[in-house]
Amino acid sequence: MTEPVKLVVIISGNGSNLQSIINAIESGQVNAKIGAVISNNPNAFGLSRAKKHSIKQQIVDHRSFNDRGAFDQSLLETVNRYSPDFIVLAGFMRILGSAFIQAYEGKILNIHPSILPDYKGLNTHQRAIDNQETEHGVSIHLVTESLDDGQVLLRGRYPIEARDTVEDLQRKGHALEHQMYPRLIQWLCDQELEVSPNEITFRKQLLSHPIEFNHG
Ligand code: GRF
Repeated sequence: MTEPVKLVVIISGNGSNLQSIINAIESGQVNAKIGAVISNNPNAFGLSRAKKHSIKQQIVDHRSFNDRGAFDQSLLETVNRYSPDFIVLAGFMRILGSAFIQAYEGKILNIHPSILPDYKGLNTHQRAIDNQETEHGVSIHLVTESLDDGQVLLRGRYPIEARDTVEDLQRKGHALEHQMYPRLIQWLCDQELEVSPNEITFRKQLLSHPIEFNHG
């Protein structure tokens, strides 16, 4: 068997996506190892999840730094200790600086609660309801220096019903996310999805459009 792919997961909060990745690794679906879970928030519940599964936890609290550059540098040094193949952002609520992104270009993944390129940024569920959309979704994309703008690798969709609230959409979105992130990581581990600075291929075909996630 090939070596497990090394991941670092960076969170700020609940960590339900982290949990779905841990579960997929423990069940053997995904051949990866999480070197550490890093949080900028010392109270993130996701840290307890990591602890429960004997995964190293690191806190890099953005409030203990004078500026964003210093926070970024410390985060980078912490990540470097684990030499990850991929950095998985899972509910990380800070914007990464360019030095960090350049150091791991093409290796940083993020999950965003919308069908990108629509609804970048925050409060995507409320904005979709306000705009009377009939569909919303989830995107997993590469992180670049522009917010929520890197190439989308995988995209999932769900319907918005007439009476849906923000909580309803969050629930539907999370259910989808918990299937999508492990699946995408599985493809990376199995080299079905290959990401290099110049091209992304999925099952040896050039990926020109996001993969549509069929969760039916
Ligand atoms: C997810 O909804 C994700 O789309 C967004 O942050 C949320 C994190 O949820 N980026 P959790 O902490 O994984 O439960």
